[in-house]
Amino acid sequence: MLDQSKLEKYNQEHLIEYEKMMSSNEKEQLDEKVNSLDLEFIQELYQSLYVNRKTITDVTAVSEVDYKIKEAFTEQDREYYEHKGIEAIRNGEFAVVLMAGGQGTRLGYKGPKGSFEIEGVSLFELQARQLLHLKNETGHCINWYIMTSDFNHEETLRYFENHDYFGYNPERIHFFKQDNIVALSENGRLIFNEKGYIMETPNGNGGIFKSLEHKGYLDKMEKDGVKFIFLNNIDNVLVKVLDPVFVGFTVVNDKDITSKSIQPKKGESVGRLVSKDNKDTVLEYSELDENVANTFDNANIGIHAFKLSFINQAVNNDLPYHLAIKKLKQLDDDFGLIEKTSLKFELFYFDIFRYANSFITLQVPRKEEFSPLKNKEGKDSVETATDDLKRMNVI
Ligand code: UD1
Repeated sequence: MLDQSKLEKYNQEHLIEYEKMMSSNEKEQLDEKVNSLDLEFIQELYQSLYVNRKTITDVTAVSEVDYKIKEAFTEQDREYYEHKGIEAIRNGEFAVVLMAGGQGTRLGYKGPKGSFEIEGVSLFELQARQLLHLKNETGHCINWYIMTSDFNHEETLRYFENHDYFGYNPERIHFFKQDNIVALSENGRLIFNEKGYIMETPNGNGGIFKSLEHKGYLDKMEKDGVKFIFLNNIDNVLVKVLDPVFVGFTVVNDKDITSKSIQPKKGESVGRLVSKDNKDTVLEYSELDENVANTFDNANIGIHAFKLSFINQAVNNDLPYHLAIKKLKQLDDDFGLIEKTSLKFELFYFDIFRYANSFITLQVPRKEEFSPLKNKEGKDSVETATDDLKRMNVI
């Protein structure tokens, strides 16, 4: 039985009405699910992140990060880093972790975003080819950890299987699922998905390190002699996965966190890498006042190397949730299917930066290294990604 007074206390009394329309089996499932939720915490998130939401306007204590510019490297620097990078890859010092659990709602594509194909080549394949190339060059087959979510896990596995793992050794590819959290309506209520279950959505990419730990993969990395985790997004079609110059730069500087950045455009939907209280951090575009965003020189492109010892020591610290306002397909009061503006809660992986002590950033040329596939049309779209891949002779 649902506890009416508890539901009323946490603004969820509408569930009683829903329950009346359910079969006894469905009621039981609903009760079980609702009882497993921390309704107080969910209401706190709603109040603090939505009702009382603020954009970041005060950046008085914030400054540029410490960064180097790749284009300013001499030929000698480049060769030195590349040599160091190849050596570290050959010695198995790097594991690669791909974040591919997102729903890609803006692209409006149903399958896993990584299975989206451009002229017959998927985003997964673009990245697999680079790891294969590194294996041929160094003789070392890098372990590739891929984070999925309930929304795309099975389909992702099938996609890899059907494509013969793009010629990569399947024993070196490790899939793991991230967690979910409930979504809410704009008035703070739990909502139902099209199957009639309480809607849950992937809880953002910030759970990545905990999920790696739960699966035993941080231990595996330690045993394998890994020193750094290279992390990247699924959707940057020009991403250089584990490129030796960056790897060498990481190893030589030996910081807790090494990041790649680009020079942002005015008003661009990218987080800004900044330094606050002597720690690098990302001010996310969705939370940042646009005029303030335009004052910084380094945009986050989701490419980092983390020292494994740092991750091991920071992984169990709590990270804060953030709000994402998205249109989600859900049941209305009469159990009809509608699409409605709703609230998703997400953890961001870069919130772990606050626990690190040393940082460095390498600013890279956008035209060579950043072209994200985010939208169906217009900016950062299929068209721009295709043009950029052709310009770089990738496809
Ligand atoms: C992200 C960055 C932003 C950066 C931009 C560059 C975050 C929070 N923000 O923004 O600072 O400027 O990329 O393109 O990372 N993902 C999951 N699980 C989730 C949600 C996302 O694995 O629950 C993955 C996605 O599949 C993707 C990556 O995380 O690979 C980034 O997520 P996305 O939603 O595309 O973030 P952006 O808003 O584009």
